[in-house]
Amino acid sequence: MIPVNTPTLLGNEKQYLLECIESGWISSEGPFVKQFEEKFSSRVGRKYGIAVSSGTAALDVAVESLGIQKGDEVILPTFTIISCIHQIVRIGAIPVLVDSDPDTWNMDISQIESKITEKTKAIMAVHIYGLPVEMGPLLEICKKHGILLIEDAAEMLGQTYREKPCGSFGEISTFSFYPNKHITTGEGGMVVTDSEELAEKCRSLRNLCFQNKQRFIHEQLGWNYRITNLQAGIGLDQLERLDESFARNGELRDLTQHCSVRSQDFSYHMMMLINAKNIFWVYGLVLLDERLCEAKPAMNLLEENNIGSRPFFWPWHKQPVLRKMGFFRNQTFPVAEKLAHRGFYIPSGLGLENNQIEEVVTIIKEKIK
Ligand SMILES: Cc1ncc(COP(=O)(O)O)c(C=O)c1O
Repeated sequence: MIPVNTPTLLGNEKQYLLECIESGWISSEGPFVKQFEEKFSSRVGRKYGIAVSSGTAALDVAVESLGIQKGDEVILPTFTIISCIHQIVRIGAIPVLVDSDPDTWNMDISQIESKITEKTKAIMAVHIYGLPVEMGPLLEICKKHGILLIEDAAEMLGQTYREKPCGSFGEISTFSFYPNKHITTGEGGMVVTDSEELAEKCRSLRNLCFQNKQRFIHEQLGWNYRITNLQAGIGLDQLERLDESFARNGELRDLTQHCSVRSQDFSYHMMMLINAKNIFWVYGLVLLDERLCEAKPAMNLLEENNIGSRPFFWPWHKQPVLRKMGFFRNQTFPVAEKLAHRGFYIPSGLGLENNQIEEVVTIIKEKIK
């Protein structure tokens, strides 16, 4: 089977892990956690980094830290992962959805202003699959209406917009280190910000809101979202090799394009904006309307030929869990629906060999009509 993703653990990960085991520092108290936070935040141009146990945890902490409350509205794309909406809904805030742009697959910025009300507290920008959200116009909207910006850069470590790193735009921004990302810690994530106050809140929320003076007396509810020294050690090494991983990701993308998966059967993720080039974190294909086949049978065909693939996100207005809660009844977002029904991504992970990419492309051309 050619997997969709395999991580590369080729550097000093073993050495860092051995250090943890020999020193006995395996919990979140170990020294690698702080080192990882400092190196990571400086790499994405932020003052503070708070390492947590996943990208989902990072989003929970970020939303909570901004003081979003019951009845507040948060604008976000319908085409994204569940992690983005968890904490908004749990707080009792109201998610307000925006459809995708048909070319960038990101939230359609032109639809945002019509969704703003006096209850709008924040916008969550989620960079999808390799192309950044148009941050220029989005930042202007936030400034004009006094709205906070949460930036989910889970898939975007290494990517830039107007030469500024993704993850440097939000009041608070988040990353994931799941193994399909540009760097991995097995499971893990990071919140980054320039605000000392927000950083302090996030540190507290990550650690059950223990207090310094009276540890077991709590003023607020938090989580145990701590990351271990073992994970941070792996992250440190991965971070040292980020440029290498990023370059390899580019080679794989170029090879996929060179072998011309590009055909008349699919539409593709836009190659570039004026301000950023697509890094193709994953290589997505969307079957054209004229093709009878939808994503599911196409993916089954690939599986029969030992090629892994993954469906695109299922949009929020179609999710049973939220429909049952009374959200999004009678709302439609045609672009996101089309992406969900007709889109899937093919092997794109850093651990792939060139000949595997060639094989994937050959099978797609032969089998998917
Ligand atoms: C855009 C986006 N946000 C958040 C997450 C959640 O990250 P994690 O899997 O580390 O919880 C992901 C995961 O892939 C993601 O793609």
